[in-house]
Amino acid sequence: GKRTGTRSGGREQWSGQTAFILAAVGSAVGLGNIWRFPGEAYTHGGGAFMIPYLVALLSAGIPILFLDYALGHRFRGGAPLAFRRVRRWAEGLGWFQVGLCFLIALYYTAVIAWAVSYFIFSFDLRWGDDPTGFFTGEYLNLGDPGFSLTFVPSVLIPLVAVWVVTILILMAGVAKGVERANFVFMPLLVVAFSILVVRALFLDGATDGLNALFTPDFSALADPGVWIAAYGQIFFSLSIAFGIMITYSSFRQRRSNMTGPGLVVAFANSSFEIFAGIGVFATLGFLAVKEGVGIGDLEGITGVGLSFMTFPAIISEMPGGQLFGALFFGSLVFAGLTSLLSILQVVSSAFQDKFGLTPRQGALRIGLVAAVLSVLGFSTTTGLIALDTVDKFTNNIGIVVSAVAMTVIVVWVARLGPELRYHLNAVSTFQLRGWWTVCIGLLAPWSSATCSSPRSPRS
Ligand code: PHE
Repeated sequence: GKRTGTRSGGREQWSGQTAFILAAVGSAVGLGNIWRFPGEAYTHGGGAFMIPYLVALLSAGIPILFLDYALGHRFRGGAPLAFRRVRRWAEGLGWFQVGLCFLIALYYTAVIAWAVSYFIFSFDLRWGDDPTGFFTGEYLNLGDPGFSLTFVPSVLIPLVAVWVVTILILMAGVAKGVERANFVFMPLLVVAFSILVVRALFLDGATDGLNALFTPDFSALADPGVWIAAYGQIFFSLSIAFGIMITYSSFRQRRSNMTGPGLVVAFANSSFEIFAGIGVFATLGFLAVKEGVGIGDLEGITGVGLSFMTFPAIISEMPGGQLFGALFFGSLVFAGLTSLLSILQVVSSAFQDKFGLTPRQGALRIGLVAAVLSVLGFSTTTGLIALDTVDKFTNNIGIVVSAVAMTVIVVWVARLGPELRYHLNAVSTFQLRGWWTVCIGLLAPWSSATCSSPRSPRS
Protein backbone atom coordinates (compact mmCIF):
# COMPACT_ATOMS: atom_id res chain seq x y z
CA GLY A 1 0.00 0.00 0.00
CA LYS A 2 0.87 3.65 -0.06
CA ARG A 3 3.21 4.64 2.72
CA THR A 4 2.74 8.33 2.37
CA GLY A 5 1.20 8.75 5.79
CA THR A 6 -1.46 11.01 4.39
CA ARG A 7 -5.19 10.67 4.33
CA SER A 8 -6.52 7.68 2.53
CA GLY A 9 -10.18 7.08 2.04
CA GLY A 10 -10.82 10.11 4.22
CA ARG A 11 -9.05 8.73 7.26
CA GLU A 12 -5.58 9.75 8.35
CA GLN A 13 -2.91 7.08 8.50
CA TRP A 14 0.31 6.35 10.31
CA SER A 15 3.25 6.14 7.92
CA GLY A 16 3.78 2.53 8.97
CA GLN A 17 3.83 -0.04 11.72
CA THR A 18 6.84 1.39 13.54
CA ALA A 19 5.16 4.77 13.81
CA PHE A 20 2.08 3.15 15.31
CA ILE A 21 4.09 1.12 17.82
CA LEU A 22 6.09 4.14 18.90
CA ALA A 23 2.98 6.26 19.36
CA ALA A 24 1.21 3.47 21.25
CA VAL A 25 4.20 3.00 23.55
CA GLY A 26 4.35 6.78 23.90
CA SER A 27 0.76 6.78 25.06
CA ALA A 28 1.21 3.89 27.46
CA VAL A 29 4.43 5.13 29.03
CA GLY A 30 3.36 8.18 30.98
CA LEU A 31 3.22 9.69 34.41
CA GLY A 32 1.58 6.48 35.60
CA ASN A 33 4.72 4.48 34.87
CA ILE A 34 7.06 6.88 36.60
CA TRP A 35 5.17 8.10 39.61
CA ARG A 36 2.36 5.60 40.08
CA PHE A 37 3.72 2.11 39.54
CA PRO A 38 6.67 2.17 42.00
CA GLY A 39 4.57 3.24 44.98
CA GLU A 40 1.70 0.92 44.06
CA ALA A 41 4.03 -2.06 43.89
CA TYR A 42 5.74 -1.13 47.15
CA THR A 43 2.54 -0.65 49.15
CA HIS A 44 0.85 -3.74 47.72
CA GLY A 45 3.21 -6.53 48.58
CA GLY A 46 6.52 -5.43 47.07
CA GLY A 47 7.98 -8.25 44.99
CA ALA A 48 4.82 -10.30 45.55
CA PHE A 49 2.87 -7.59 43.68
CA MET A 50 4.40 -8.96 40.50
CA ILE A 51 2.06 -11.94 40.72
CA PRO A 52 -1.28 -10.08 40.60
CA TYR A 53 0.36 -7.63 38.23
CA LEU A 54 1.23 -10.35 35.74
CA VAL A 55 -2.13 -12.02 36.17
CA ALA A 56 -3.83 -8.69 35.48
CA LEU A 57 -1.62 -8.07 32.46
CA LEU A 58 -2.32 -11.46 30.90
CA SER A 59 -5.96 -11.88 31.86
CA ALA A 60 -7.23 -8.36 31.19
CA GLY A 61 -4.51 -5.95 30.06
CA ILE A 62 -3.37 -7.61 26.88
CA PRO A 63 -6.79 -9.07 25.97
CA ILE A 64 -8.51 -5.67 26.28
CA LEU A 65 -5.65 -4.00 24.45
CA PHE A 66 -6.35 -6.38 21.56
CA LEU A 67 -10.07 -5.66 21.83
CA ASP A 68 -9.37 -1.93 21.54
CA TYR A 69 -7.15 -2.55 18.52
CA ALA A 70 -9.77 -4.72 16.86
CA LEU A 71 -12.59 -2.22 17.40
CA GLY A 72 -10.67 0.73 16.04
CA HIS A 73 -9.27 -1.11 13.07
CA ARG A 74 -12.35 -3.12 12.13
CA PHE A 75 -14.79 -0.22 12.49
CA ARG A 76 -12.47 2.55 11.31
CA GLY A 77 -13.42 5.24 13.75
CA GLY A 78 -12.63 7.06 16.91
CA ALA A 79 -14.37 5.67 19.99
CA PRO A 80 -17.92 7.02 19.42
CA LEU A 81 -17.97 6.09 15.73
CA ALA A 82 -16.50 2.64 16.35
CA PHE A 83 -19.09 1.84 19.03
CA ARG A 84 -21.85 3.30 16.89
CA ARG A 85 -20.89 0.85 14.18
CA VAL A 86 -21.15 -1.97 16.70
CA ARG A 87 -24.61 -0.86 17.84
CA ARG A 88 -26.12 2.52 17.12
CA TRP A 89 -27.05 3.11 20.75
CA ALA A 90 -23.53 2.24 21.94
CA GLU A 91 -22.16 5.51 20.61
CA GLY A 92 -22.71 6.93 24.11
CA LEU A 93 -20.05 4.65 25.53
CA GLY A 94 -17.58 6.19 23.11
CA TRP A 95 -18.54 9.66 24.27
CA PHE A 96 -18.14 8.53 27.86
CA GLN A 97 -14.56 7.53 27.03
CA VAL A 98 -14.05 10.85 25.26
CA GLY A 99 -15.24 12.55 28.45
CA LEU A 100 -12.76 10.60 30.57
CA CYS A 101 -9.92 11.56 28.25
CA PHE A 102 -10.99 15.19 28.33
CA LEU A 103 -10.91 15.18 32.14
CA ILE A 104 -7.55 13.45 32.29
CA ALA A 105 -6.13 15.93 29.78
CA LEU A 106 -7.03 18.84 32.03
CA TYR A 107 -4.89 17.67 34.94
CA TYR A 108 -2.26 15.93 32.85
CA THR A 109 -1.37 19.24 31.20
CA ALA A 110 -1.14 20.93 34.57
CA VAL A 111 1.31 18.32 35.83
CA ILE A 112 3.40 18.52 32.67
CA ALA A 113 3.51 22.30 33.06
CA TRP A 114 4.71 21.95 36.66
CA ALA A 115 7.39 19.55 35.45
CA VAL A 116 8.49 22.14 32.88
CA SER A 117 8.89 24.70 35.67
CA TYR A 118 10.70 22.25 37.90
CA PHE A 119 13.01 21.30 35.06
CA ILE A 120 14.12 24.93 35.06
CA PHE A 121 14.12 25.16 38.87
CA SER A 122 16.49 22.18 38.98
CA PHE A 123 19.36 24.27 37.71
CA ASP A 124 19.41 26.55 40.76
CA LEU A 125 17.56 24.29 43.20
CA ARG A 126 14.94 27.01 43.42
CA TRP A 127 12.85 25.14 46.00
CA GLY A 128 15.45 25.80 48.73
CA ASP A 129 15.41 23.92 52.03
CA ASP A 130 11.69 23.34 52.20
CA PRO A 131 10.47 21.87 48.90
CA THR A 132 7.04 21.01 50.29
CA GLY A 133 6.43 24.51 51.53
CA PHE A 134 7.79 25.90 48.30
CA PHE A 135 5.50 23.77 46.12
CA THR A 136 2.24 24.49 47.89
CA GLY A 137 3.15 28.00 49.02
CA GLU A 138 5.40 30.01 46.79
CA TYR A 139 4.83 27.94 43.68
CA LEU A 140 1.14 27.03 43.60
CA ASN A 141 0.14 29.69 46.08
CA LEU A 142 -2.39 27.35 47.68
CA GLY A 143 -4.64 28.66 50.40
CA ASP A 144 -3.92 32.23 49.47
CA PRO A 145 -6.75 33.80 47.54
CA GLY A 146 -4.59 36.76 46.61
CA PHE A 147 -2.77 36.86 43.33
CA SER A 148 0.94 36.37 43.48
CA LEU A 149 3.17 37.82 40.82
CA THR A 150 5.45 34.79 40.59
CA PHE A 151 2.43 32.79 39.57
CA VAL A 152 2.38 34.14 36.04
CA PRO A 153 5.91 33.21 34.94
CA SER A 154 6.17 30.01 36.94
CA VAL A 155 2.74 28.42 36.55
CA LEU A 156 0.69 30.19 33.92
CA ILE A 157 3.27 30.56 31.17
CA PRO A 158 4.38 26.90 31.25
CA LEU A 159 0.75 25.78 31.22
CA VAL A 160 -0.08 27.92 28.23
CA ALA A 161 3.13 26.78 26.53
CA VAL A 162 2.24 23.11 27.00
CA TRP A 163 -1.18 23.76 25.48
CA VAL A 164 0.23 25.66 22.52
CA VAL A 165 2.76 22.93 21.73
CA THR A 166 0.16 20.18 22.11
CA ILE A 167 -2.45 21.90 19.97
CA LEU A 168 0.08 22.66 17.23
CA ILE A 169 1.22 19.03 17.12
CA LEU A 170 -2.35 17.76 16.96
CA MET A 171 -3.27 20.27 14.27
CA ALA A 172 -0.45 18.93 12.09
CA GLY A 173 -2.26 15.59 12.01
CA VAL A 174 -1.53 11.99 12.87
CA ALA A 175 1.43 11.38 10.58
CA LYS A 176 2.94 14.85 10.43
CA GLY A 177 2.24 15.79 14.03
CA VAL A 178 1.66 13.02 16.56
CA GLU A 179 3.94 10.54 14.84
CA ARG A 180 6.84 12.96 14.46
CA ALA A 181 6.49 14.21 18.01
CA ASN A 182 6.82 10.63 19.24
CA PHE A 183 9.90 10.11 17.08
CA VAL A 184 11.50 13.04 18.90
CA PHE A 185 10.19 12.72 22.45
CA MET A 186 10.43 8.96 22.95
CA PRO A 187 14.18 8.63 22.27
CA LEU A 188 14.77 11.65 24.50
CA LEU A 189 12.75 9.99 27.24
CA VAL A 190 14.63 6.71 27.00
CA VAL A 191 18.03 8.39 27.04
CA ALA A 192 17.23 10.79 29.88
CA PHE A 193 15.56 8.17 32.01
CA SER A 194 18.28 5.57 31.47
CA ILE A 195 20.97 7.98 32.64
CA LEU A 196 18.83 8.79 35.65
CA VAL A 197 18.33 5.16 36.66
CA VAL A 198 22.02 4.32 36.28
CA ARG A 199 22.95 7.33 38.38
CA ALA A 200 20.38 6.36 41.00
CA LEU A 201 21.89 2.89 41.31
CA PHE A 202 25.19 4.41 42.42
CA LEU A 203 23.65 6.42 45.26
CA ASP A 204 24.23 5.43 48.88
CA GLY A 205 21.30 3.41 50.07
CA ALA A 206 20.22 2.35 46.58
CA THR A 207 20.23 -1.30 47.53
CA ASP A 208 18.09 -0.60 50.59
CA GLY A 209 15.56 0.99 48.32
CA LEU A 210 15.58 -1.93 45.91
CA ASN A 211 15.23 -4.41 48.75
CA ALA A 212 12.26 -2.48 50.06
CA LEU A 213 10.62 -2.50 46.64
CA PHE A 214 11.29 -6.10 45.70
CA THR A 215 11.18 -8.04 48.97
CA PRO A 216 7.98 -10.04 48.57
CA ASP A 217 5.25 -9.99 51.16
CA PHE A 218 3.22 -12.97 50.05
CA SER A 219 0.53 -12.43 52.67
CA ALA A 220 -0.53 -9.42 50.59
CA LEU A 221 -1.89 -11.82 48.00
CA ALA A 222 -4.77 -12.66 50.31
CA ASP A 223 -5.89 -9.02 50.24
CA PRO A 224 -8.44 -8.28 47.49
CA GLY A 225 -7.29 -4.65 47.54
CA VAL A 226 -3.93 -5.78 46.20
CA TRP A 227 -5.58 -7.47 43.24
CA ILE A 228 -7.75 -4.44 42.54
CA ALA A 229 -4.65 -2.25 42.64
CA ALA A 230 -2.92 -4.53 40.15
CA TYR A 231 -5.83 -4.39 37.69
CA GLY A 232 -6.11 -0.62 38.16
CA GLN A 233 -2.43 -0.12 37.48
CA ILE A 234 -2.51 -2.27 34.35
CA PHE A 235 -5.56 -0.48 32.92
CA PHE A 236 -4.21 2.99 33.54
CA SER A 237 -0.73 2.14 32.45
CA LEU A 238 -1.67 0.47 29.19
CA SER A 239 -4.14 3.28 28.39
CA ILE A 240 -6.89 0.74 27.73
CA ALA A 241 -10.66 1.21 27.88
CA PHE A 242 -10.25 4.96 27.37
CA GLY A 243 -10.82 4.90 23.63
CA ILE A 244 -7.17 5.73 23.10
CA MET A 245 -6.12 2.49 21.51
CA ILE A 246 -9.36 2.38 19.50
CA THR A 247 -8.48 5.77 18.07
CA TYR A 248 -4.81 5.03 17.42
CA SER A 249 -5.52 1.73 15.69
CA SER A 250 -8.18 3.33 13.50
CA PHE A 251 -5.29 5.07 11.71
CA ARG A 252 -3.54 1.85 10.75
CA GLN A 253 -3.40 0.58 7.19
CA ARG A 254 -6.10 -1.85 6.21
CA ARG A 255 -4.14 -5.07 6.36
CA SER A 256 -1.98 -4.76 9.44
CA ASN A 257 -0.31 -7.03 11.91
CA MET A 258 -2.36 -6.40 15.04
CA THR A 259 -1.25 -8.83 17.71
CA GLY A 260 2.52 -8.61 17.24
CA PRO A 261 2.65 -4.86 17.88
CA GLY A 262 0.23 -5.32 20.77
CA LEU A 263 2.65 -7.63 22.55
CA VAL A 264 5.53 -5.27 21.85
CA VAL A 265 3.60 -2.35 23.35
CA ALA A 266 2.55 -4.30 26.45
CA PHE A 267 6.05 -5.63 27.02
CA ALA A 268 7.70 -2.23 26.49
CA ASN A 269 5.26 -0.58 28.87
CA SER A 270 5.77 -3.06 31.69
CA SER A 271 9.53 -3.02 31.22
CA PHE A 272 9.58 0.75 31.49
CA GLU A 273 7.43 0.57 34.58
CA ILE A 274 9.72 -1.86 36.38
CA PHE A 275 12.72 0.15 35.26
CA ALA A 276 11.09 3.23 36.78
CA GLY A 277 10.46 1.32 39.99
CA ILE A 278 14.19 0.60 40.20
CA GLY A 279 15.13 4.23 39.60
CA VAL A 280 12.59 5.68 42.02
CA PHE A 281 13.30 3.26 44.86
CA ALA A 282 17.06 3.46 44.52
CA THR A 283 16.61 7.21 44.92
CA LEU A 284 14.23 6.82 47.88
CA GLY A 285 16.79 4.49 49.47
CA PHE A 286 19.26 7.36 49.37
CA LEU A 287 16.83 9.63 51.20
CA ALA A 288 16.09 7.01 53.84
CA VAL A 289 19.80 6.55 54.56
CA LYS A 290 20.32 10.32 54.71
CA GLU A 291 17.50 10.74 57.17
CA GLY A 292 18.44 7.62 59.09
CA VAL A 293 14.95 6.12 58.74
CA GLY A 294 13.46 3.09 57.03
CA ILE A 295 11.86 3.35 53.59
CA GLY A 296 8.55 2.63 55.26
CA ASP A 297 8.81 5.87 57.23
CA LEU A 298 9.14 8.07 54.16
CA GLU A 299 6.19 10.16 53.09
CA GLY A 300 5.30 11.21 49.59
CA ILE A 301 6.35 8.14 47.64
CA THR A 302 3.86 8.43 44.80
CA GLY A 303 2.26 10.98 42.53
CA VAL A 304 2.49 14.70 43.08
CA GLY A 305 4.12 14.28 46.48
CA LEU A 306 6.88 12.09 45.11
CA SER A 307 7.63 14.29 42.14
CA PHE A 308 7.27 17.80 43.50
CA MET A 309 8.08 17.38 47.19
CA THR A 310 10.18 14.29 47.87
CA PHE A 311 12.32 14.32 44.74
CA PRO A 312 13.26 18.00 45.02
CA ALA A 313 14.38 17.34 48.60
CA ILE A 314 16.56 14.45 47.44
CA ILE A 315 17.92 16.41 44.50
CA SER A 316 19.12 19.13 46.86
CA GLU A 317 20.94 16.55 48.98
CA MET A 318 22.72 14.62 46.30
CA PRO A 319 25.99 15.42 44.59
CA GLY A 320 25.22 16.50 41.02
CA GLY A 321 21.59 16.95 41.95
CA GLN A 322 21.00 19.66 39.38
CA LEU A 323 21.59 17.29 36.50
CA PHE A 324 19.57 14.55 38.21
CA GLY A 325 16.69 16.98 38.62
CA ALA A 326 16.82 18.06 35.01
CA LEU A 327 16.78 14.43 33.87
CA PHE A 328 13.88 13.55 36.16
CA PHE A 329 11.64 16.48 35.27
CA GLY A 330 12.66 16.24 31.63
CA SER A 331 11.54 12.60 31.69
CA LEU A 332 8.21 13.57 33.21
CA VAL A 333 7.71 16.14 30.46
CA PHE A 334 8.54 13.77 27.59
CA ALA A 335 6.61 10.83 29.02
CA GLY A 336 3.67 13.09 29.80
CA LEU A 337 3.52 14.87 26.45
CA THR A 338 3.37 11.69 24.40
CA SER A 339 0.52 10.42 26.59
CA LEU A 340 -1.26 13.75 26.48
CA LEU A 341 -1.20 13.71 22.68
CA SER A 342 -2.98 10.35 22.68
CA ILE A 343 -5.62 11.47 25.17
CA LEU A 344 -6.44 14.58 23.18
CA GLN A 345 -6.35 12.73 19.89
CA VAL A 346 -9.29 10.72 21.21
CA VAL A 347 -11.29 13.89 21.77
CA SER A 348 -10.23 15.52 18.54
CA SER A 349 -10.92 12.42 16.42
CA ALA A 350 -14.35 11.99 17.96
CA PHE A 351 -15.34 15.50 16.92
CA GLN A 352 -13.75 15.11 13.51
CA ASP A 353 -15.73 11.92 12.90
CA LYS A 354 -18.96 13.41 14.17
CA PHE A 355 -18.89 16.80 12.49
CA GLY A 356 -16.69 16.15 9.49
CA LEU A 357 -13.93 18.44 10.71
CA THR A 358 -10.36 18.39 9.47
CA PRO A 359 -7.60 17.52 11.96
CA ARG A 360 -6.71 21.21 12.10
CA GLN A 361 -10.25 22.25 12.95
CA GLY A 362 -10.83 19.42 15.40
CA ALA A 363 -7.58 19.93 17.27
CA LEU A 364 -7.93 23.70 17.42
CA ARG A 365 -11.50 23.67 18.69
CA ILE A 366 -11.24 21.02 21.35
CA GLY A 367 -7.77 22.23 22.26
CA LEU A 368 -8.93 25.77 22.89
CA VAL A 369 -11.85 24.69 25.05
CA ALA A 370 -9.70 22.31 27.07
CA ALA A 371 -6.91 24.85 27.39
CA VAL A 372 -9.20 27.52 28.77
CA LEU A 373 -10.75 25.09 31.25
CA SER A 374 -7.41 23.80 32.42
CA VAL A 375 -5.95 27.28 32.81
CA LEU A 376 -8.99 28.40 34.80
CA GLY A 377 -9.30 25.21 36.81
CA PHE A 378 -5.79 24.11 37.56
CA SER A 379 -4.12 27.40 38.15
CA THR A 380 -6.38 28.28 41.03
CA THR A 381 -6.27 27.21 44.65
CA THR A 382 -8.68 24.41 44.00
CA GLY A 383 -6.43 22.96 41.32
CA LEU A 384 -4.72 20.42 43.50
CA ILE A 385 -7.98 19.17 44.98
CA ALA A 386 -9.58 19.04 41.57
CA LEU A 387 -6.62 17.05 40.31
CA ASP A 388 -7.10 14.51 43.03
CA THR A 389 -10.83 14.23 42.49
CA VAL A 390 -10.58 13.88 38.73
CA ASP A 391 -7.79 11.35 39.11
CA LYS A 392 -9.80 9.25 41.58
CA PHE A 393 -12.97 9.40 39.52
CA THR A 394 -11.39 8.47 36.20
CA ASN A 395 -9.15 5.77 37.60
CA ASN A 396 -11.42 4.10 40.08
CA ILE A 397 -14.89 4.46 38.63
CA GLY A 398 -14.60 5.63 35.05
CA ILE A 399 -12.20 2.97 33.95
CA VAL A 400 -14.17 0.08 35.46
CA VAL A 401 -17.50 1.28 34.08
CA SER A 402 -15.92 1.77 30.70
CA ALA A 403 -14.16 -1.60 30.53
CA VAL A 404 -17.16 -3.57 31.73
CA ALA A 405 -19.57 -1.73 29.44
CA MET A 406 -17.26 -2.27 26.51
CA THR A 407 -16.95 -6.01 26.99
CA VAL A 408 -20.64 -6.43 27.73
CA ILE A 409 -21.66 -4.59 24.60
CA VAL A 410 -19.11 -6.04 22.27
CA VAL A 411 -18.87 -9.60 23.54
CA TRP A 412 -22.24 -10.35 25.09
CA VAL A 413 -24.71 -8.12 23.31
CA ALA A 414 -23.24 -7.83 19.83
CA ARG A 415 -21.45 -11.19 20.12
CA LEU A 416 -18.53 -9.90 18.14
CA GLY A 417 -15.89 -11.99 19.91
CA PRO A 418 -15.30 -14.56 17.19
CA GLU A 419 -15.47 -12.05 14.37
CA LEU A 420 -13.01 -9.70 16.02
CA ARG A 421 -10.68 -12.56 16.79
CA TYR A 422 -10.76 -13.51 13.14
CA HIS A 423 -10.07 -9.89 12.25
CA LEU A 424 -7.12 -9.67 14.66
CA ASN A 425 -5.61 -12.88 13.37
CA ALA A 426 -5.99 -12.07 9.69
CA VAL A 427 -2.47 -10.86 8.98
CA SER A 428 -0.95 -11.14 12.43
CA THR A 429 2.21 -12.91 13.48
CA PHE A 430 0.73 -14.19 16.70
CA GLN A 431 -2.58 -16.04 16.50
CA LEU A 432 -5.19 -15.54 19.20
CA ARG A 433 -7.02 -18.68 20.27
CA GLY A 434 -10.17 -19.20 22.26
CA TRP A 435 -8.54 -17.96 25.46
CA TRP A 436 -8.80 -14.43 24.17
CA THR A 437 -12.57 -14.61 23.82
CA VAL A 438 -12.75 -16.22 27.25
CA CYS A 439 -10.69 -13.43 28.85
CA ILE A 440 -12.68 -10.56 27.40
CA GLY A 441 -15.96 -12.37 28.00
CA LEU A 442 -15.28 -13.27 31.62
CA LEU A 443 -14.62 -9.67 32.54
CA ALA A 444 -18.35 -9.32 32.74
CA PRO A 445 -19.43 -12.84 33.64
CA TRP A 446 -22.63 -11.81 35.35
CA SER A 447 -23.87 -10.29 32.16
CA SER A 448 -24.05 -13.56 30.30
CA ALA A 449 -27.50 -14.36 31.58
CA THR A 450 -29.03 -10.93 31.44
CA CYS A 451 -27.45 -9.10 28.57
CA SER A 452 -26.76 -11.54 25.81
CA SER A 453 -29.02 -11.01 22.88
CA PRO A 454 -30.40 -13.77 20.72
CA ARG A 455 -29.19 -12.01 17.60
CA SER A 456 -26.49 -13.75 15.66
CA PRO A 457 -23.09 -12.11 15.32
CA ARG A 458 -22.80 -9.48 12.65
CA SER A 459 -20.53 -10.33 9.87
N1 PHE B 1 -0.93 5.35 30.28
C1 PHE B 1 -0.42 6.61 30.62
C2 PHE B 1 0.22 6.61 31.96
O1 PHE B 1 0.64 5.61 32.44
C3 PHE B 1 -1.34 7.75 30.58
C4 PHE B 1 -2.76 7.59 30.36
C5 PHE B 1 -3.60 6.98 31.23
C6 PHE B 1 -3.26 8.09 29.26
C7 PHE B 1 -4.92 6.90 31.02
C8 PHE B 1 -4.57 8.01 29.02
C9 PHE B 1 -5.41 7.42 29.90
O2 PHE B 1 0.39 7.63 32.57
